[in-house]
Amino acid sequence: MGLEIGHILGKGLFKLEHLHYGLWKKGLEPDVLNLHLAQEEYCRFVISHIPAEVKSILDVGCGTGAFSKKLVDLGYKVDCVCPTEYQNELVEELLGGSSEIFKCKFEDIQTDRKYDMVMFCESFQYIDLDRVIDVAASLVRQGGYMLICDFFKKQSADSCGIKGGHKLDKFMNLIERSSFKMIEDIDITAETSPNLDILDRATKEVMIPVVDAAERFFKSRHPIALKILKFRYRKKIKKAEQKYLKGNRTGKDFAEYKTYRLFVCRKAK
Ligand SMILES: C[S@@+](CC[C@H](N)C(=O)[O-])C[C@H]1O[C@@H](n2cnc3c(N)ncnc32)[C@H](O)[C@@H]1O
Repeated sequence: MGLEIGHILGKGLFKLEHLHYGLWKKGLEPDVLNLHLAQEEYCRFVISHIPAEVKSILDVGCGTGAFSKKLVDLGYKVDCVCPTEYQNELVEELLGGSSEIFKCKFEDIQTDRKYDMVMFCESFQYIDLDRVIDVAASLVRQGGYMLICDFFKKQSADSCGIKGGHKLDKFMNLIERSSFKMIEDIDITAETSPNLDILDRATKEVMIPVVDAAERFFKSRHPIALKILKFRYRKKIKKAEQKYLKGNRTGKDFAEYKTYRLFVCRKAK
């Protein structure tokens, strides 16, 4: 639901095609109006790390399908897997019949196909860490690849207001014991953390003033109904206040507690 609303607003207001963070290269001002450019930069960066012999790709958690379409246009044979109905409708429309779309969780995929590469662009964190590597290994041919571009937790995230990301040390241990070997590990935390500053600014300068104005309006017109609503949703309101008002969701917090990485792993031959 959050991603769906985010996509509708992002596309309608800011020309955003993707659901991933932007990659902020030096010289590109971290501003929401530049986010679509930073997202394109993220795609270029990932594409530049696809090994040369890769021809077929399974795009896991393909979101709107905009990245898959880019890959199709570059000549890759791309299939997708995504459990979200709304996103699958967009992907079907965008890719037509050229790609198979597995409408399920990655963990539940049923196919005999083997791919040159399984790719996770900011979707790895949503998949059960205890299963994801084995499932990926079953879908990649011998000598094929797994590319992950996503953020991980550096340390206990209890004190961090930004949710998401598997524990990096656990992931590294699992890779060590798997049939994959890490061949590339690039840290892009500094280039991705400005996304949090943009979100923080939007929360403080837009979301909170809008909510305050709406509250003042309802208080003057329907004071009793407002009281009932606030009581009815008190737990949700408290949770939202803790999440958005505590002020620990900036780029600096992100860089302290998370690490955004591009990993390319190769399956043994
Ligand atoms: C942040 S979006 C990234 C979308 C897209 N890869 C991109 O780069 O724009 C995360 C995606 O992961 C998908 N997802 C969540 N849980 C999943 C699962 N268990 N298996 C496969 N995809 C999943 C969501 O539906 C969503 O499409």
